[in-house]
Amino acid sequence: MTAQRIDGIALSQKLRADVTLRTTALKAKGITPGLAVILVGENPASQVYVRNKVKACEDSGLHSILEKHPASLTEAALLNRIDALNHDTGIHGILVQLPLPAHIDAHKVIEAISPAKDVDGFHIASAGALMTSMPGFWPCTPYGCMKMLESIGYELKGKHAVVIGRSNIVGKPMALMLLQKNATVTICHSATQDLKAITLQADVIVAAVGKRNILTADMVKPGAVVLDVGMNRNEEGKLCGDVDFAGVEQVAGYITPVPGGVGPMTITMLLVNTLEAAERIQAIDFSV
Ligand code: GUN
Repeated sequence: MTAQRIDGIALSQKLRADVTLRTTALKAKGITPGLAVILVGENPASQVYVRNKVKACEDSGLHSILEKHPASLTEAALLNRIDALNHDTGIHGILVQLPLPAHIDAHKVIEAISPAKDVDGFHIASAGALMTSMPGFWPCTPYGCMKMLESIGYELKGKHAVVIGRSNIVGKPMALMLLQKNATVTICHSATQDLKAITLQADVIVAAVGKRNILTADMVKPGAVVLDVGMNRNEEGKLCGDVDFAGVEQVAGYITPVPGGVGPMTITMLLVNTLEAAERIQAIDFSV
């Protein structure tokens, strides 16, 4: 069996076309969705990420601003900037690119963002909303994974989903989203004993560890759906995921490639969250 690929580029194009349509409709009502992206320091990977986020906004008709600050920026100055953006009616989403320099407390910074503008979904209020199935912003990468499952018409109810990785950004929210769709969810991590025994029982596997070849063909049940969140480099410097793609592709029913899988979906869901933040403002009737 050769797995069907879930194409994150094609799905992103489809979802972004919808974002553009909804953005145009909102602009007609006098509201342009706006995203503020804050970068502190010179981390080369972060510079690429923020550039891509701003470009994606431009391509879909959203307003965006990119604030670049030197690594020497104080925590107090950053908190002041966030406070100003919280009150800026032209900005509906605020994203502070991580990691931050060591002298800045990232938790404090994330908690300073208004939950109404937390389009990354990292605020404790957003995490709490997800945990209790209340409206709120979902972290973009696991949200993108859910859209990929939706795109193949996958029914999660009663299925066994195994998440490898327990980060606050991917693993934990991913598990909660799968649970919300009535899957039976197992979270595996670095202290898990006999990972293979667990993944072999899985109907869906999400690999989000940041380690090459954490999932190999012998660990996958025939026909399982495999989503690869990993972003690693091999010996030749080529981008690769957490999954041994060539091997697992022969066993799985569906698989996401790296590159061109989950990666593009993350930025797409950021656009969706920003648009939704603006739509929610529009839905509030200020005349009463
Ligand atoms: N650093 C790596 N990924 C992300 C992300 O999705 N959001 C933010 N803010 N920082 C990141």
